[in-house]
Amino acid sequence: MSEKKRVLSCIQPSGMLTLGNYLGALKNWLKMQEEFDCTYAVADLHAITVRQDPQKFRGQIYSTYALLLALGLDPQKSTLFIQSHLPEHTALTWLLASCTQFGELSRMTQFKAKSAVHTDNINVGLFAYPVLMASDILLYQPDFVPVGADQKQHLEIARDIAMRFNRVYGDVFKVPEPYIPTVAARVMSLQDPTKKMSKSDENVNSFVAILDDRDTVIRKFKRAVTDSEASVRFSEDKPGVSNLITIYSAVTGKTVAEVEREFEGRGYGDFKLAVGEAVADELAPIKERYEKIIADKAELERIFRDGDARAESVARKTYFKAMKKMGFVL
Ligand code: TYM
Repeated sequence: MSEKKRVLSCIQPSGMLTLGNYLGALKNWLKMQEEFDCTYAVADLHAITVRQDPQKFRGQIYSTYALLLALGLDPQKSTLFIQSHLPEHTALTWLLASCTQFGELSRMTQFKAKSAVHTDNINVGLFAYPVLMASDILLYQPDFVPVGADQKQHLEIARDIAMRFNRVYGDVFKVPEPYIPTVAARVMSLQDPTKKMSKSDENVNSFVAILDDRDTVIRKFKRAVTDSEASVRFSEDKPGVSNLITIYSAVTGKTVAEVEREFEGRGYGDFKLAVGEAVADELAPIKERYEKIIADKAELERIFRDGDARAESVARKTYFKAMKKMGFVL
């Protein structure tokens, strides 16, 4: 086993990946690749908890995987796989489900929010979603799980499940720590800055997709909702401007105070343009690499088959250890 600390995280292929995914999680995935033993997956099984069109869904799985490569994740350094290709994820979910209480799943804010939106499809998968996520994590014995702030509650339940299992059956799972960015842990919608930026938002102006072209990125920032004060200042009562300051700060590495100073006495027009250009500059090379990678499906498949096999060798060990501790006959 490698001496390096381990990292695990996943992303759903449920549409266009956004600047929120990028700043809240993917940027850290990339950074951590240099220092840690990282395993990252496309969480396709999670995505079916809301209805997907099979044709589009297939394309989204390829494109999400291709985007991970385009970001700079290196399949030689990190293990990059597709969740549904490893039966251990669903199998462990069943074992962990019996260590998870109905009450604790009912308290998950994401479950409450999604059931409020998809009232005609409040399915068991949506309810059990955090158990599958716990299984994704615990199979790889990670030390850290890089996620945005919205996944913190799911990570806490994964830790609780691990501790409970270890207490009842004996030590199997490492209890991992969340790794949440200090800046941009929660990127907000450009149209309603009290809501999180989300790829499933119906209003395309509310999010910037990682693959948006330069003009679209700049246009979306120009249209971003702000306020009537015309002062670039970070404050709780200025959610729109504060969100833009956070984005600019995350992309340029400048502190909030430095950003405020840079735009002192200047209008929102200038500021929005600067944010749009900074983001467009950051995303352009990713889009360029993505176009090349997605064009070669055969190579993409070769890479994910290899990642699947490497992930499975780790996942199998943990899964059988858990089975054995529970008393199953192997
Ligand atoms: P998902 O696919 O919704 O999002 C992927 C990652 O992006 C982060 N994120 C954000 N960060 C900041 N601001 C935002 N507006 C924003 N929107 C999304 C998320 O926090 C996440 O880190 N359940 C997970 C996927 C998952 C997973 C796992 C994660 C499945 N198994 C195991 C970690 C470990 C999800 O739906 O993320």
